[in-house]
Amino acid sequence: MTSTDQQPFLSVRDLKVHFSTEDGVVKAVDGLTFDLAKGKTLGIVGESGSGKSVTNLTILGLHDRERTAIDGEILLDGKELLTASERELERLRGNKMSMIFQDALASLSPYHTIGRQIGETYRKHTGASKKEARARAIEMLRRVGIPQPDVRVDDYPHQFSGGMRQRAMIAMALVCDPELLIADEPTTALDVTVQAQIMDLLKDLQQEFGTAIIFITHDLGVIADIADDVLVMYGGRCVERGTKKEVLRAPQHPYTWGLLGSMPSLDGPVDVPLSPIPGSPPSLLNPPSGCRFHPRCTFAEKVTDGRCSSEQPLLQVTDGRGAACHLTADQRRDFFADYAATRSH
Ligand SMILES: Nc1ncnc2c1ncn2[C@@H]1O[C@H](COP(=O)(O)OP(=O)(O)OP(=O)(O)O)[C@@H](O)[C@H]1O
Ligand code: SF4
Ligand SMILES: [Mg+2]
Repeated sequence: MTSTDQQPFLSVRDLKVHFSTEDGVVKAVDGLTFDLAKGKTLGIVGESGSGKSVTNLTILGLHDRERTAIDGEILLDGKELLTASERELERLRGNKMSMIFQDALASLSPYHTIGRQIGETYRKHTGASKKEARARAIEMLRRVGIPQPDVRVDDYPHQFSGGMRQRAMIAMALVCDPELLIADEPTTALDVTVQAQIMDLLKDLQQEFGTAIIFITHDLGVIADIADDVLVMYGGRCVERGTKKEVLRAPQHPYTWGLLGSMPSLDGPVDVPLSPIPGSPPSLLNPPSGCRFHPRCTFAEKVTDGRCSSEQPLLQVTDGRGAACHLTADQRRDFFADYAATRSH
């Protein structure tokens, strides 16, 4: 995902998703731009309510259309999705792009067998026969590591454990070899061992199929494991992006420093106390003026003329790397060095 790539597989440009509610307009996503190349994984990280799920549901065309104003561009393999018809989107969902959610139980129907649900998705997109679809379902269950897939294919979701249901949902999402897979906190509800197995599975499947993956998570440890590039969201906007190494090793935005400080160190001493980011995420009905992070940012006073509360910092991106903050590059480097020193003691 660098500016030298000719045409990114997925290209999101200045995306805005605003909901009309009784209380006013919720600016859930407010000017988001990013690219994703085939075979790569973009990790999207940010606190609850930062717009991660809304962004991705909009890419899939699964947002609530009634009360939603959308602006910007979403190009998938050169095709504009925001102007695509519901029928076109339905065709694309499944064989070009698909999604796995946090809660497999809520996404699978309790009334049909696992095999039927995987098979029906396959039939819908390929026109395969019932017999072919069943064989494909068994093959997919085998691929995602379900033991005795030819027997378990006839189980109902409640007969599967949480980890197996998640695998079944991955099998369903991948049954038509989508080129884009969006995984929205797919491992949050699982224990650590199963989490690790699912991550390995996704990596293997990506290698095999060259799938582009968007992986949404609160957990920077998961990002460190799976992502190539990282996008940090705050209050409906991207505040920092870059490669995984750039963002995790040399973050440039005070919010990213805060996120790193609120989780156990990835490779430093284990006994460094965690410090949650003070305050709460911003209201998206009435977002703070200037930099949306300014009411919580301990560095705002280092910027002259009160610009943090009056002027929105722009995200300037060079070769896929950038942060939206008024601090100078030298200040950011020095402040991060101070911060990193406190983390390594
Ligand atoms: N249909 C809707 N109508 C009004 N507001 C909405 C709607 N859907 C989402 N929102 C609001 O948009 C904001 C972003 O929500 P989103 O679900 O994208 O957050 P998130 O980053 O995925 O959070 P989490 O980590 O908790 O899943 C939230 O403030 C949410 O309340
Ligand atoms: S622009 Fe100001 S308030 Fe926003 S992150 Fe940078 S220093 Fe903090
Ligand atoms: Mg979400």
